[in-house]
Amino acid sequence: MSATTEAPSTVAPGSPELFSERLKAATWSDHQAAEDHGFTRALLDGTLPLSGYTEMVAQHYFAYAALEDVGRRLAGDPVAGRFHYPELERLPALVRDLEHLLGADWRERISPSRATRTYAARIEQMVDHPAGYVAHHYTRYMGDVSGGQFIRRVAAKAYGLSDEAGVAFYVFDALGSLPRFRTGYRERLDSLALDEAAAARLVAETRLAYQLNTEVFADLGRTHAPAA
Ligand code: HEM
Repeated sequence: MSATTEAPSTVAPGSPELFSERLKAATWSDHQAAEDHGFTRALLDGTLPLSGYTEMVAQHYFAYAALEDVGRRLAGDPVAGRFHYPELERLPALVRDLEHLLGADWRERISPSRATRTYAARIEQMVDHPAGYVAHHYTRYMGDVSGGQFIRRVAAKAYGLSDEAGVAFYVFDALGSLPRFRTGYRERLDSLALDEAAAARLVAETRLAYQLNTEVFADLGRTHAPAA
C-alpha cells in the first residue's frame, strides 16, 4: 500500500484496503494469541476461580488508570484527541467492581504485577507519541466492546455477578448500540491522515499492546490457575 503524493493517506486511491481493515488483519494473529491464552480460555469456559477473575479486574484497574490519564492529557491532540470518548471511561466501573469483589478496602488489597507495570509504563510513554496512544486505545476498548461482551456474560453466570457491580467494566450503556459504535470507531481510524511510516508504526504499537496484554494474562495464569 502506498501513500498518494498530494495528501498523506493510508489508503491509495481505488485501494480496497481501509486502515481499519489493515490494522485488524495485521494484528489478528496477536489477538488470537491473547484470546487463546490458557488464562483467557479458562475465563471463557467458566473454570477460572473467582480469585483469578478478581485479580484480572485489579490488573485492569492499573492499566486503565494509565490509559485514561494519558487519554485526558492528549484530549487536545489532533490525532489522539479524536479518540477521546469520555463515555468509554472504565475507571468508575472498575472501582464499583472492585468494591463489590474485595470490599471497601479494595485499594489496599491490590497492587500491579510486574507485567502490568511494564504495560502501564508503555502506555504512559505515549504522552509523547499520540498516534501510538491510539494503538493502545484501540486494543483495549475495541476489545472490550467486542469479545469483552462474551466475558461479561460468562463471568456474570459463573460468579453470580451483576451489571451494577462485578461485571460493570463490560457495560457500555452510554454508547448505545455497540455495533454502531464499532462502525464509527473504524471510520475514525480510516480518517486518520497517516503516511505509510506512521501507519506502520501504529500497527507495530498495536502488536506490542497485544503482547503486553498477553504478558499480563500469562502472569495471572501463573498465580491463578484454573480450578481442577
Ligand atoms: C474483536 C473475541 C480477547 C482485542 C473481537 C471480536 C471478537 C472477539 C468476536 C470481533 C471480531 C470481528 O469484528 O469480526 C474475543 C474473545 C476474547 C478476546 C472471545 C477472549 C477473551 C481479546 C483481548 C484483546 C482483544 C484479550 C486485547 C487485549 C480485540 C480488538 C478487537 C477485537 C482490538 C477489534 C478488532 C477490529 O475489529 O479491528 N474479539 N476477543 N480481544 N478484540 Fe477480541
